[in-house]
Amino acid sequence: MLIISRQAIEHIIEPDKVLEVVEDAFKSYSLGRAKMPPKLYLDLPEYAGDFRAMPAYVNGAAGVKWVNSHPQNPGRFGKPTVMAVLVYNDPTTGEPLAVMDATSITMYRTAAATAVATKYLARKDSSTLGIIGCGAQARPHLVYLDQVMGFNEVLLYDIDPERAARVAAVAPKKCRVVASVAEAAKADVVTTITPGNRIVLTKDHVRDGHHINCVGADALGKQELDPQILLSSRVFVDDMAQATHSGEVSTPIHNGIYNEAMIAGTLGDVVTGKIPGRKSAAEVTLFDSTGLAIEDIATAKYLYEKALALGAGLKVDLI
Ligand SMILES: NC(=O)c1ccc[n+]([C@@H]2O[C@H](COP(=O)([O-])OP(=O)(O)OC[C@H]3O[C@@H](n4cnc5c(N)ncnc54)[C@H](O)[C@@H]3O)[C@@H](O)[C@H]2O)c1
Repeated sequence: MLIISRQAIEHIIEPDKVLEVVEDAFKSYSLGRAKMPPKLYLDLPEYAGDFRAMPAYVNGAAGVKWVNSHPQNPGRFGKPTVMAVLVYNDPTTGEPLAVMDATSITMYRTAAATAVATKYLARKDSSTLGIIGCGAQARPHLVYLDQVMGFNEVLLYDIDPERAARVAAVAPKKCRVVASVAEAAKADVVTTITPGNRIVLTKDHVRDGHHINCVGADALGKQELDPQILLSSRVFVDDMAQATHSGEVSTPIHNGIYNEAMIAGTLGDVVTGKIPGRKSAAEVTLFDSTGLAIEDIATAKYLYEKALALGAGLKVDLI
């Protein structure tokens, strides 16, 4: 069995390859070639956090990710909000082939899923990106979104301007730290990646032709958007069961403001052409990301095969 560390992953990972495998995972899921029970939550409000178990089978690969979300970690303990490990198995025998860091996998596959959604749903002439919430997930989002769209300018907002400045350092010529949500929302593509403990984007921030990615609301009770925005947008989800249970749409559905029938469809169905994506330059499109296990396992397959070929992991005898 291979143990693949975060350092090894950072060393071998290629963003364009992750984009490819994540897009392909969405396609396989839409075509019924993947299996993925909805993620299982272990809520621990007494620790201000939760854990999720995320199993999947996709494109000949199987495994499970075990991941947490503890939004107070950076401030209280100096640790990331989200940390994860992944067990990667041979689906033929069930043999565990690898245990790997999935803190980095989570960051890269989440950014890749947002980038795939943006590629299919945003106006082709979108030239500016706004990121609201500049924590751990923001940096790969900047890199992956820019890779698919080639933005002229990126507007970064965080309640802690130092965090926005740290993300801006990735591409200082392109990035500008702004002082309000309203300024960041002037961009053509707006991405929210906050802890989801309050509404950050309101109806007056949204204008014709916007594409909005909501990434932060990935558990029951989390919300980043005024539900009125959902009512005037074409909303796409990564997975119907997960999104209605724990995505941006879940609280408005629970409160009777929104319902499942209003959702335009899944990103996978847009990728395979089963349903149309953006229909006009003026409409507002919205992607509700909850994070799918198929994204993790598809990325893990790519990393396992590459680590094996390069001798990048630590070999241990498990059986
Ligand atoms: N959808 C997915 O697939 C997916 C994947 C990973 C993480 N997440 C979720 O994304 C969120 C962010 O994760 P992270 O690892 O980047 O966390 P993080 O704690 O590293 O970053 C969150 C950032 O948001 C900022 N912030 C808080 N409130 C804000 C506000 N009102 N306006 C602007 N900025 C604000 C914080 O200062 C911080 O910089 C979490 O809720 C996490 O659970 C979703």
